[in-house]
Amino acid sequence: MNFVFWQSILEKYWGISSKLSLLDGEFDLNILVRSTDDKQYVLKIMREDCLQDFVDMQIQAISHLKSIEPELPFPDIIETISGNKFIQCEDNLGRTRLLWLIKKLPGQKYVEYKRNNLNVVKELGHMIAKCDRSLESFEHGFLTRSLKWNLIEAGWVEKHTDLIEDPSRKVIVQNIIKEYKNILPKLREQPFQAIHGDINDHNILVAGGLKDQPYISGILDFGDMCHCPRVCNLAIAAAYVVLDHDQPEAALTSLVSAYNISSPLTVAEFDLIWPLLTMRLAVSVVNSTLMSNDDPDDPYITVSQAPAWRFLEHNFQNSKFIAARLRSKCGKPVVEGADRVLSYLEEGRGSFAQIFDFDLNSLPMGSLSVENSSWPQNPFSLPLDEALKVGSDIIAKDGFWMGYYNEPRLIYTEPAFRNGPWKASDRRTVHLGIDIFGPAHLKIRAPIEGKVVVAENRKQHLDYGGVIILEHEIPSGDLFYTLYGHLDPKFLKELKVGDKIQSGAVFCTLGDNKHNGGWAPHLHFQLALMTDGIEKDWPGVGDPDEMYLWNALCPNPAALLNLPDSMTNYEPVLKDQVLRDRKSCFSNNLSISYNDPILVTRAWKHHLFDEWGRPYLDAYNNVPHVGHSHPRIQEIAAKQMKRVNTNTRYLHPIQTAFAKKILSKFTKNFDVCFFVNSGSEANELALRLARAHTKSKGIVTLDHGYHGNTTGAIDISAYKFNARGGVGQVDWVELIDLPDDFRGKFKRDDTDCGRKFGNLVNAAIERLEAKQKKVGAFIAETFPSVAGQIIPPNGYLKEVYKNIRNAGGLCIADEVQTGLGRLGKHYFGFEQQEVEPDIVVLGKPIGNGHPIGVVVTSREIADSFADGPEFFSTFGGSTLSCMIGKEVLEIVDDEGLQENAKQMGERLLTGLREIKNKFHQIGDVRGMGLFMGIDLVKNNITQDEDKDLCTYIKNRMRDSRILIGSEGPKDNVLKIRPPLTIDAEGVDMILHYFEKIMNEV
Ligand SMILES: Cc1ncc(COP(=O)(O)O)c(C=O)c1O
Repeated sequence: MNFVFWQSILEKYWGISSKLSLLDGEFDLNILVRSTDDKQYVLKIMREDCLQDFVDMQIQAISHLKSIEPELPFPDIIETISGNKFIQCEDNLGRTRLLWLIKKLPGQKYVEYKRNNLNVVKELGHMIAKCDRSLESFEHGFLTRSLKWNLIEAGWVEKHTDLIEDPSRKVIVQNIIKEYKNILPKLREQPFQAIHGDINDHNILVAGGLKDQPYISGILDFGDMCHCPRVCNLAIAAAYVVLDHDQPEAALTSLVSAYNISSPLTVAEFDLIWPLLTMRLAVSVVNSTLMSNDDPDDPYITVSQAPAWRFLEHNFQNSKFIAARLRSKCGKPVVEGADRVLSYLEEGRGSFAQIFDFDLNSLPMGSLSVENSSWPQNPFSLPLDEALKVGSDIIAKDGFWMGYYNEPRLIYTEPAFRNGPWKASDRRTVHLGIDIFGPAHLKIRAPIEGKVVVAENRKQHLDYGGVIILEHEIPSGDLFYTLYGHLDPKFLKELKVGDKIQSGAVFCTLGDNKHNGGWAPHLHFQLALMTDGIEKDWPGVGDPDEMYLWNALCPNPAALLNLPDSMTNYEPVLKDQVLRDRKSCFSNNLSISYNDPILVTRAWKHHLFDEWGRPYLDAYNNVPHVGHSHPRIQEIAAKQMKRVNTNTRYLHPIQTAFAKKILSKFTKNFDVCFFVNSGSEANELALRLARAHTKSKGIVTLDHGYHGNTTGAIDISAYKFNARGGVGQVDWVELIDLPDDFRGKFKRDDTDCGRKFGNLVNAAIERLEAKQKKVGAFIAETFPSVAGQIIPPNGYLKEVYKNIRNAGGLCIADEVQTGLGRLGKHYFGFEQQEVEPDIVVLGKPIGNGHPIGVVVTSREIADSFADGPEFFSTFGGSTLSCMIGKEVLEIVDDEGLQENAKQMGERLLTGLREIKNKFHQIGDVRGMGLFMGIDLVKNNITQDEDKDLCTYIKNRMRDSRILIGSEGPKDNVLKIRPPLTIDAEGVDMILHYFEKIMNEV
């Protein structure tokens, strides 16, 4: 490339002095121009035989678009000094070339952007709609040239399908062509206009940092403009938006629905999108197969087609079903005639034949919802004995009751209900029919005349058992379908596909649990307006994020049961309302996690479930130490609530039993426990004990530490008193540096750094003494958590404790975060530091959600405190608290949770360190057991903290259904701190998504 030559051309025609570099381009040369006044352009040097009309069409189209939609990000065309939009000149080899210059747009190519952000896709949908609308009035003679990429001419690929060697791929492409030929007449009927024709992932630019909402900053390359129906433009863009997308259906519906808002689509266009989308990919793969035949040594050709093949091989779907999805997302009838069927059902409500021999209006409704029920206890497994009892707690007249339509439930536990490999993958939870519970063998009548289209016995565990689907025709000729599940399969002896069932005729009976899939006897009754794509295998429950489709395809069947919709429609709790109420009832500084907060209605071990039953892996909460909703805790708490719950003014053996269990985890130097209700209260008490014993008020503590929310606890929590609007530092507190061997003044490679950090305590003692204050105590979280999940270097606390004790102070270990086995190798953090504190504070995990705080110390210190006024905490040490606290400690032992923390912690740490090696943005990975921190940096030489990246990853992990937090003085440390029950699958899910999200940045 002779840059000097092109620099002179730029200077001569455009008056621009510049530096040049080459950009990519299929046929033409694209040169990046950086002018001396710091502007950037792209010089387009067209191929030698390029027609003037080709350039003229593009330039005129861009000018036309800019005049109608000046806000849209199309490139500005830079005129020459003499006012021309393009020129013709000779290149350095004497060949005639057409040249034009455009302003460079910011951003990266969509194909490199790689984030699955649906907002960007929506923005693209709006832009394409505006672009099409503007181009309606654009004409140019060159638009009607023959073009292999014009979808109206795409039939040319058919004669090349034999070049596809892989037989299954060949069949895929042949099927696409068959469908394309079917829709071609309809396509030809659509109005023709000018379209861009190539909005692919290389021609879309995306800009915006991690903090700002990303946005589309450019739409490039008008070289494939042509004359054809506008839906082709949308289908082409859609073909690239779905490639390698996490949720291709969501991406497609987001794009199309945004387009439809800006420029309404016709139902015919909705139905054309999928066949055109797949045809575009077929053209693309056939084209590159031809190219690789011409140039077999070019590996790039195969690589570039890989995403299209991946998509076609894994996402081939029924086009009518996709059309139904798109139509329902955009509020159109889900299928032709759906509106007529719905009106027919509405008019007939109240006059259909009774399905049972009694009026269903008198039956009670019972809820199995995520929010209102606790079925099943373990949302990942429903044993048959529990399935049989589902709903047995619902008080129903004569055993009859009905289950809601549109109700999110957790009883669908089999992996088949999951869309993904993880327990926290998307899960189908929302019931799409109405259930009628009653005794087995009850006769069932057809609500209207119908024809049997399915009659089967599905014998699998928790399947339907006997199932029948009837097809019904209404007077307008439109069809709809009803499904009857959990039947006694003996109907199979009499019924066969094709049989007509008269309205009101008995055609089957309710199955018992031996024949109905294993459930308590009930009928699952469901309606569908179309069966394409679901055929015999209707989902009985839908993904909560796809209810726009399922509510339209399988609407509430209440009308056919002569019931009002309002009686049978489940109304889930509304998150937005809860959020609004929260804002109105509570203070503004009550914090809430994540950009998109989570409404939690159920939990089990290390998983949470929201109001729609969406599962989340809980990798953040240390309070449910032995796992959420632990059956032993449930049982012991319920039993004790029935007996007595009172305070320590009365005797009860559980009080000392709990104390003895705690003391069994300490050396013999600890003999006394105090029971309170929270970590804050425990820290307050610890300060009082130390002061009573030493008669000194001064406290030395760590910078950025946190010990609770009470007045005294805030005074020793630099994280709070030094925060914006904080109360500031009191004169009896002195701070020392965090023992952070990654960011602190002494580093990990210094073998003496623990002692050096520990020595800093002496200066703090001296500062107190300079104020005539003596040190009463040193208090620290053994491993500082809010300060960034710090693991102090070896020898640190040994040095601190020695110096504090020399100055007459006591040493308090706040083990609220680190105690009770979380660290795996050690039951308490101070054991890792090979020290023994004078006072230890325990909190959060010890109650597994029940409010308990404990202070443990020696008899000698307790006696000093006992010289003062009576100690009493109303709820501390209540009978219930002691029962729960002791049970928690026993569960940790019985279930080997400390060992699990060790093994899972090692698995996680090893995986995180491997990921760290791949990304310069990960400055440090540190942790022990299930106490883990990932320090994110902008630059791995300066190690500047990257808070934006940390926030981005935390929220993207949440979007991926994994809950983690962020900490550190600059909020740049990801915090992973799951319940101790986390298993290998959970750890692997964290690693999988963490690496995937790191790849997005
Ligand atoms: C180390 C530490 N100490 C004390 C507390 C205060 O505990 P509580 O919120 O139970 O009062 C916390 C709470 O986050 C903590 O992390």
